Amino acid sequence: METTILSLPLIPVATAVVVGILVAALLLWRRGGQDKSSVAAPSASHARSNGALAAQEAEADSREKCVILFGTQTGTAERFAKGLRAQLESKYGGSTAFEVLDIEQYDFASKLPGEKLVFLLMATYGDGDPTDSATEFWTWLSEAAESGAQEDLLQGVTFGVFGLGNRQYEHFCAMGKKVSNAMKALGASELLRRGEGDDDRDIDEDFDKWCAELFPALDASTLVQKAEGATDVMSAAFLAAYDVEEVADAPTSQVDRLPPSGTGLNSHSPFLATVTAVRELHAGGDRSCVHVELDIAGCKATYDAGDHVAVFAENSDAVVSAAAAALGLPLNYCFRLSLPSPNKHSLPEPAVAGPLTLRCALARYADLLSAPNKAALLALAACATDAGEAKRLQRLASVEGKDDYHAYVVAPKRSLLEVMQDFPSAKPSLGAFFGSVAPHLQPRYYSISSAPQLHPKSVHITCAVVREKMPTGRVHEGVASCWLSRLQEGDRVPCFLRHSTFKLPRDPATPVVMVGPGTGLAPFRGFLQQRAALLKSGKKLGAAHLFFGCRNRKHDFIYEDELEAAVAQGSITQLHAAFSRERAQKEYVQHHMEAHANEVWSILCDSAGGYLYVCGDAKNMAKDVHRTLHAIAVKATGCSEAKAEELVKRLSESGRYHKDVW
Ligand SMILES: Cc1cc2nc3c(=O)[nH]c(=O)nc-3n(C[C@H](O)[C@H](O)[C@H](O)COP(=O)(O)OP(=O)(O)OC[C@H]3O[C@@H](n4cnc5c(N)ncnc54)[C@H](O)[C@@H]3O)c2cc1C
Ligand SMILES: Cc1cc2nc3c(=O)[nH]c(=O)nc-3n(C[C@H](O)[C@H](O)[C@H](O)COP(=O)(O)O)c2cc1C
Repeated sequence: METTILSLPLIPVATAVVVGILVAALLLWRRGGQDKSSVAAPSASHARSNGALAAQEAEADSREKCVILFGTQTGTAERFAKGLRAQLESKYGGSTAFEVLDIEQYDFASKLPGEKLVFLLMATYGDGDPTDSATEFWTWLSEAAESGAQEDLLQGVTFGVFGLGNRQYEHFCAMGKKVSNAMKALGASELLRRGEGDDDRDIDEDFDKWCAELFPALDASTLVQKAEGATDVMSAAFLAAYDVEEVADAPTSQVDRLPPSGTGLNSHSPFLATVTAVRELHAGGDRSCVHVELDIAGCKATYDAGDHVAVFAENSDAVVSAAAAALGLPLNYCFRLSLPSPNKHSLPEPAVAGPLTLRCALARYADLLSAPNKAALLALAACATDAGEAKRLQRLASVEGKDDYHAYVVAPKRSLLEVMQDFPSAKPSLGAFFGSVAPHLQPRYYSISSAPQLHPKSVHITCAVVREKMPTGRVHEGVASCWLSRLQEGDRVPCFLRHSTFKLPRDPATPVVMVGPGTGLAPFRGFLQQRAALLKSGKKLGAAHLFFGCRNRKHDFIYEDELEAAVAQGSITQLHAAFSRERAQKEYVQHHMEAHANEVWSILCDSAGGYLYVCGDAKNMAKDVHRTLHAIAVKATGCSEAKAEELVKRLSESGRYHKDVW
């Protein structure tokens, strides 16, 4: 039987499915049908996948192990890790079992030295720092490497590192570099060049390129064995899938309950904050920006101006209904998810065991509107009952189908939901949908727009509502921003707080320049509240210039009254507002900065020791401001371009140039 199961990826999908059903039926018959009797089979495809998994459970896994570790904050590294696992499993699954693990859940001290093959996908945050989840790992690894006494600790370990970052930041992909160097210092061998993904450009393409080098490197090694004729084709039997139990008679009070309120210290323990205010900040115009206040009384986490709050939002009713239809299940289908046993794919515990209605599970936990990753396409292919659809999905997920993927998914910005609608025969079981197809809906981060000195028990959010027409004609309603805009007083918001390095200087007398157009104003509203409190307590404040920008003072000059009051009261020395759509000539914050080059440089020069803060759009604004900074240095000091570059670099290296950009 083992041979039959292991060879499943090599045989056509339809055949694999039939074999899966037969093997499952045989197993259930042998077990007297006891083991899975509680697992409901709402459709043939559910029975198919659960049965195949039961068959898998029966075999002892004697394959070599390879662990894929990820350190993520906003989900990209996790998405890549899962995609990589799907590709590796389909190519080398016969010889090796690939396990994906959040680095936080990995017992590195006892396990890493004994690994044969490890991949690490590491995002960088702060000033070249690890994600919260990778902090302990990095402390352990760097201390071991720096001690110099354990040069052979990781001898025998072969590894590959892909760093995730953004070139906008001074320490680009620093964690990837640091982890790779530390692993080597401890005797591990690097399988291939370290990969670097730049979120400022096309990070998915960077990752694909790295994978394209990874597979030949593995083929040339003796670490794994490529099954003959192996392709990217995966069978439903190899999908990671939760066990699903239909719950027909749960009392209403038990269904769709939010998990109890946690500490609010991290993503694993969200605090249930209560909404105390929601208001529109724009006056007219065709866009929307909302101010939301969350009561955090009782939350264990504290905050300072400049920190972030992360919220767990929900998909809209329209999106949820469309997804349920694509899955072929009613919205009120009530079920419980649990881990399969054995949990071969290292699925994480379901966020909520349930009972949940499909409506609630899709709203809270499934990322339905992002572009589907290749692992999801492969998983859908494995579930497709129409051979043509299966083939097309496989092609889209394959290395050879890169251009097709770009033309069908990336360029038109197709969502997972749209793809499921386009491939109606690909109806995964609920267990496989949550285990292999839909990524977990990620929390969204917001720069807190209040200060605890004024609002000790609440955090404020300033959120631009995303409504964007996609090339397919679909209007994309931003999941979290639209959800926030629909909130009402008294609603509960699962959230957690995250500390950042974006902080006012310790000495309030140090002068500062703040640049924050649009919602980039958010953390500065907090800074201004903090400065107002300092002023009130009798502290002497350094100069503060705020560069704000919007389209039109009548429509989107958010918090105008508060800013004017701050000027009057002295927490802002000068407010520079740029309006991009009031005159024929567009004006942006950088134009105002350049017009005030001498004042700006008189604050940022070494002798004044002032700080520069930039917040908001990473793609354009932060780059324009960065370029302008060079021009300002040249204009104010008369130095050469090269010298200006050196001065700006020094500003950054001395910790006086901070960015909070997204
Ligand atoms: C540290 C940090 C601080 C932040 N602070 C703030 C803040 O103070 N205020 C604020 O307004 N925002 C802030 N953001 C941004 C915020 O986290 C959200 O990203 C923003 O609100 C949009 O989220 P959403 O769920 O509404 O939109 P989403 O649904 O996530 O959509 C966002 C964008 O993704 C793209 N997209 C969606 N689906 C697809 C697809 N299928 N294919 C291709 N592209 C797609 C679209 O371009 C869309 O505009 C911050 C982000 C970070 C990381
Ligand atoms: C607040 C913040 C700080 C960041 N700091 C850095 C940094 O210092 N260096 C870097 O290369 N990228 C930095 N980034 C970019 C992220 O590493 C990048 O977006 C990455 O793709 C995120 O991966 P994740 O989704 O797995 O968390 C930062 C991003 C944010 C939002």
